[in-house]
Amino acid sequence: MDLEVIGHGPVMELRFNRPAKKNAITGAMYLTMVEAMARPDWRVLLFTATGDIFTAGNDIKDFLTMRTLGEAPASQFIHALARSDRPMIAAAPGPCIGIGATLLLHCDLVYATPETSLMVPFVDLGLVPEAGSSLLLPARIGAARASAMVLLGEPMAAAEALQAGLVNAIVPAESLHAHALAIATRLAAKPRAAVAASRALMRQGRDALLAQMKLEQAAFTAALAGPESKEAFTAFLERRTPVFA
Ligand code: COA
Repeated sequence: MDLEVIGHGPVMELRFNRPAKKNAITGAMYLTMVEAMARPDWRVLLFTATGDIFTAGNDIKDFLTMRTLGEAPASQFIHALARSDRPMIAAAPGPCIGIGATLLLHCDLVYATPETSLMVPFVDLGLVPEAGSSLLLPARIGAARASAMVLLGEPMAAAEALQAGLVNAIVPAESLHAHALAIATRLAAKPRAAVAASRALMRQGRDALLAQMKLEQAAFTAALAGPESKEAFTAFLERRTPVFA
């Protein structure tokens, strides 16, 4: 299974398990996550990954046939993230690219390794930010650093992400899973209503976030229809440097 759903009592683990393709996320993988997230039987969600990368983001082959972001499984997934009323934790063992990075902005707690990095190369792909990241990223790290990441595609290393407050701790790769699962289990044992109410209080901007996601969706869909994204996707799959007009 490219996306494994693993139960640990009240903790539900969603594991990216497609290492041969750098854990790139397909439509089917998004739908598995959306279905799992809708289940009532978990209290804390834990995103993990097989191998030395968290995920290389949306499957670029899938992008080629995507007409609108709104109709894509990815959209259902990012809305499930934004609307979640239960806590989410990520354990990211390596690079977090595209949605791999933007999903972290929706998580309550994020654990990294020295090899973890965050990268949002949407512009290089002829695209625009998604998952509310055009709002969340500047709010979390400031406009200057957000511009370097979004416009220049510069990666953010684990140490900087820790300093910026995007990750909670950097732990050795071999203990990442156990560490994050222990935290998830601890959180799952806390009083459920108090956790939910506290999260809701800390996420007061949700209406603005959903409105921004609507704007992003329109811009993303326009970008998908344009020549820049098509050239970028094709160049990636052909292993060549893209040429933009
Ligand atoms: N979508 C689809 N396939 C992907 C992918 C993605 N996002 N990322 C990697 N792959 C595939 C490659 O096509 C390759 O497949 P192949 O072996 O069948 O040719 C395989 O995964 C290994 O990738 P490769 O590029 O050879 O590994 P690498 O170690 O040299 O580089 C990355 C790893 C992650 C840096 C590089 O694959 C990359 O930049 N991926 C795209 C990231 C991206 O732009 N994501 C979209 C964000 S919106």
